[in-house]
Amino acid sequence: MSSTAERLAARAAALDSADPLSGLRERFLLPPGVVYLDGNSLGALPAAVPPVLADAVHRQWGTGLIRSWNDHAWWQAPLRVGDAVGRLIGAAPGQVVVGDSTSVQLFNALSAAVRLRPGRPLLVVDRDHFPTDRYLAASVARLHGLRLRAVPADALADLLSREGEQVAAVLGAPVDYRTGRLTDPAAVTRAAHDAGALAVWDLCHAAGALPLDLDALGADLAVGCGYKYLCGGPGAPAFLYVAHRHQADFDHPLTGWNGHADPFDPTEEYRPAEGVSRARIGTPPMLSLLALEAALTVFEGVDPARLRAKSLSLTGFLLDCADDLLAPQGFTLGVNALYVSHADVLHAMTTLREIAAEGAHRPYLAKRRAVVT
Ligand SMILES: Cc1ncc(COP(=O)(O)O)c(C=O)c1O
Repeated sequence: MSSTAERLAARAAALDSADPLSGLRERFLLPPGVVYLDGNSLGALPAAVPPVLADAVHRQWGTGLIRSWNDHAWWQAPLRVGDAVGRLIGAAPGQVVVGDSTSVQLFNALSAAVRLRPGRPLLVVDRDHFPTDRYLAASVARLHGLRLRAVPADALADLLSREGEQVAAVLGAPVDYRTGRLTDPAAVTRAAHDAGALAVWDLCHAAGALPLDLDALGADLAVGCGYKYLCGGPGAPAFLYVAHRHQADFDHPLTGWNGHADPFDPTEEYRPAEGVSRARIGTPPMLSLLALEAALTVFEGVDPARLRAKSLSLTGFLLDCADDLLAPQGFTLGVNALYVSHADVLHAMTTLREIAAEGAHRPYLAKRRAVVT
């Protein structure tokens, strides 16, 4: 082994043996020999999920059939799982509902935000936001006759201080999905509120990865997905946070029957339920919802500050390995501190260096891009 490789291996071993979260890896079913650095896209499979899904399919669905809506509290699941997500994002119970995709929840949240601030002509979005956020913000602006202003994340607070009285709502993200760069949600929320505007946050890359305290920072509305750091599985339902103080006036466009005050009374016109229940839309995706609920148990007893500290340690080590072993090759990597070790990072970077050195990746570059990249 070269001295660089020996030095890095010794450092990885020391960091892993001092890692108070190393036992969390046991909560996941990872294929042997695979170092998984795509936690920013699809989280790994928590060991708690398969038995819960088997039970949900065979006993609750197969045997309980329609009775399970009551007997297994399926009906309450969107709010029950919402409260479990709430514990990870600093939301007191009764402010988070789980269901549908992030895109749907974004449409709902942005439309409701605009309706909460009538008469203001601007909707502001981070210019480099994930495409669905920009597309939906543009559509909501068109539907409500607003102008869309797209600015870089680090210019949001400044724009709000200059033109904030024109702004109905601003849509931002604490984590840049491409680079991992952080935007301080407290500063932007404060600037929005100083101007009388609302702040809507996309937490897709933050929930389960960063310590978040939505209630303390006074966030208005937020959305996020269940399949990245929350590890809820492919197509896991998304979540929507509606701060208590906005719930009575939360007027969202997708007034489905699940959000009705009395969903089983077909004679009435739409009358929204009390509280965050009104943000429910249609029948919840029960199997995915129960998978997400089981997945969230991986966070039991985990201090978010410790998780963040490990994530910084892994990423710092990854950058050191990249400096020592790899010339910049344009890789995007997502380390999930719940199940990645420093030894994994070194293994991945050493393997990448070998691949790059041999040029073994070149034939793949020439191939057609897969549908999902
Ligand atoms: C930041 C961000 N927002 C929104 C989405 C879209 O989520 P969905 O496909 O659940 O609508 C993604 C998906 O990767 C994302 O990364």
